[in-house]
Amino acid sequence: MNDAQCPKCGTSYPPPARFCIKDGFPLITGTQASPALHRTDETRPPGVRTTDPAGTLEGRVIDGRYAIEDRVGEGGMAYVYRATDRQTGQTVAVKVLMAKLASDPESVARLKREAHLAMKLIHPNTCGLLSYGEANRLPYLVMPYLEGETLSTRENRIGIMKPKQAVPILIQLCRGLQHAHDQGVMHRDLKPENVMLVAEDAGERAVVMDFGLAKERIAGADLNRLTATGIVLGTPEFMSPEQIRGKSIDHRSDIYALGVLAFELLSGELPYAGATAQETMLNHLTGKPKRLSTVASNIPGGLDQAIERALKLEPKDRFQSMTEFAQALSRISL
Ligand SMILES: Nc1ncnc2c1ncn2[C@@H]1O[C@H](COP(=O)(O)OP(=O)(O)O)[C@@H](O)[C@H]1O
Ligand SMILES: [Mg+2]
Repeated sequence: MNDAQCPKCGTSYPPPARFCIKDGFPLITGTQASPALHRTDETRPPGVRTTDPAGTLEGRVIDGRYAIEDRVGEGGMAYVYRATDRQTGQTVAVKVLMAKLASDPESVARLKREAHLAMKLIHPNTCGLLSYGEANRLPYLVMPYLEGETLSTRENRIGIMKPKQAVPILIQLCRGLQHAHDQGVMHRDLKPENVMLVAEDAGERAVVMDFGLAKERIAGADLNRLTATGIVLGTPEFMSPEQIRGKSIDHRSDIYALGVLAFELLSGELPYAGATAQETMLNHLTGKPKRLSTVASNIPGGLDQAIERALKLEPKDRFQSMTEFAQALSRISL
């Protein structure tokens, strides 16, 4: 049997390995495996083509309905295109599972689950879902198109954000995630790549995307099987200690991840950094993050404390809800 490869970082493993020990991604076999971009700009540089049929759909019409225009994004699982819905005339985003994952039942199940969960979300700070389908055996999602730049692109473009810019974004993310939690949906993979900033008349709207690793609070038998594998999924830099340990997690794991995201946004650093993914994960278990005000200047006291609280080792010591986190952020005088 061939070695299996991690679609995220490209590391190879001999059988019977099923998961990447670096980032927890399910392994795939086959010659098409290639490392995906991660924590960099999601869009491949212009001129660099992929051989994945799911990555070269520009100009095609899917299911006689969605006229694909440009590819606008790429994550660990899928390619995302801007398209026009010929039935409604609406500009939409079509997320197509990478072909190399389309033959992997777990990846297909994850995309279907993302569809099932995202369908429940109707809030300005979460990305909803319009439909799910399969064309030429490639499963795809259709979402409202978000015109903007991801938070990771913004970070790369302008660098560290001042509290005055960052806090309103964080409050919006709290609201979107509180909505998801109210529907019983945990995100589990919150990071700047999964947040879109959309320019609007009233200012900027921050939208949580990519519920691909999300989990329902009340899991049925099938979901249990999926989440039994899901415990190792996530992104090491943003994973909560309980997620790293593979313990059962709840919405307070998202609160931790938002704390890490906030820390990075304001300082350009991570509260726990390690030379390798494993070292990063081990550091998260120590419960001793860097203090924000030691690595960033002009941090108001309340902000330092709020982030410290979100990053507590024990979920019970953190904010207990996103609304509580948002309230603490709202009290800070900027
Ligand atoms: N609704 C959308 N509108 C515009 N761009 C999007 C939309 N959804 C995703 N993208 C872009 O595609 C990228 C990958 O999407 P994501 O859902 O995170 O896929 P993956 O599950 O592969 O990580 C995002 O980082 C973003 O740049
Ligand atoms: Mg993503």
